[in-house]
Amino acid sequence: MNTMLAALLTAVALGAPFEPTWESLDKRENPAWFGEAKFGIFIHWGLYSVPAWGPKDRYAEWYWHDMMDEKGETRKFHDATYGADFKYQDFAPLFRAEMFNPDEWADLFARSGAKYIVLTSKHHEGFALWPNDEAWNWNSMQAGPGRDLCGDLIASVRGKGIKMGFYYSLYEWFNPLYKKDVNRYVDAHMLPQLKDLVTRYRPDIIWPDGEWEHPSETWRSTEFLAWLFNDSNAPKDIAINDRWGKECRNVHGGFATPEYGHITEGGLIQSGRFEECQGMGRSFGYNRNENVDSYRSATELLHLLIDNVSRGGNLLLDIGPTADGRIPVIMQQRLVDMGEWLKVNGEGIYGTSAWNDAPKVEGLRFTQKDGVIYAIALKWPEAGIEFPSEQPFTSATLLGHEGALDLRQDSGIVHITPPALHVDAMPCRHAYVFKLQ
Ligand code: GLC
Repeated sequence: MNTMLAALLTAVALGAPFEPTWESLDKRENPAWFGEAKFGIFIHWGLYSVPAWGPKDRYAEWYWHDMMDEKGETRKFHDATYGADFKYQDFAPLFRAEMFNPDEWADLFARSGAKYIVLTSKHHEGFALWPNDEAWNWNSMQAGPGRDLCGDLIASVRGKGIKMGFYYSLYEWFNPLYKKDVNRYVDAHMLPQLKDLVTRYRPDIIWPDGEWEHPSETWRSTEFLAWLFNDSNAPKDIAINDRWGKECRNVHGGFATPEYGHITEGGLIQSGRFEECQGMGRSFGYNRNENVDSYRSATELLHLLIDNVSRGGNLLLDIGPTADGRIPVIMQQRLVDMGEWLKVNGEGIYGTSAWNDAPKVEGLRFTQKDGVIYAIALKWPEAGIEFPSEQPFTSATLLGHEGALDLRQDSGIVHITPPALHVDAMPCRHAYVFKLQ
């Protein structure tokens, strides 16, 4: 079947053509690939990556905003480090990405087991990581790196068979047009710029943010989405989130975007249409003020993934590259460790959904796929696994370990006896996936 026909069938299957109304657009399901992918990598990279600093519990990508607070910690750091006359714009020539190797990044992402990537194409600072007329002279081609960072990375990532899309901030903190006349800003700047991003790279995901100061009507979000799904050259199975206006989170759009677990139920989340996003520490942009104790361990990050997948959602785990284009080695290590685990246990994660009859058992999470139940123990279950269930099971195995396990089910309680293994003989670390059929 030719690709045009396939695209058309996908579009129709997802409900196209759409009216520019939430009533019509909300009928569109998330594309199947997104719900199956489970694990994505967020990348926050921009001028804020030059100072790469924030108070320990603060988002370092908010540096420009925070340095405008004369009495704040960021201002104090800025004056002491760069001098009171050093303007935020002066960071542009220092954002050189001279060590950026997109193929190396793509190799690391493939090793991590992530199935999609979301890069900040433009954050609240307005600096674009791709050349476009709207961000004239305030973009990574005409300032700083002298490169199309979005284009270089999406080519390498797709070369590894991994999907990729873009985060895009609807607002810009200090853009005079935004401050003076938001309607003209949307008409003359935001919409043409966002359409340029779509038309130029045909992304697999559009991840807007910075929507909270205005309703979706002001941002003309439904008009943009009807264009995106009906008329643009974007993939017909493109995924979108819920950040389209102040009234939209967890209500309108594709998937809800809980952040550091700030919402865990209701709305889109209720039906498993969500993606939890977090940094490995407390920041999305690289924060040099964080130290080894700020970073969660591979075990904690895998438990975060497992917990969200067991509730039917995805995890979008963030990395903050440095201004010279490196991914900090501690972040590389966490991604490699997660990928090692997923190599053994991915069957119990990718393509699964929540087990609606899952019992609540301390230290256990459940997923399901094609009638198979995966009981995931968050630590080695020395004393065995026990949980209430009337569902009849006939066999139990441990992913990564050959051979059937002792399985008993009496008076509605399932008992699984794990194999007697020395710690060096265990199939993995961090969490253990028992497959029940
Ligand atoms: C918040 C922050 C922004 C970050 C985003 C990630 O909206 O403003 O800095 O990019 O969360 O979800």
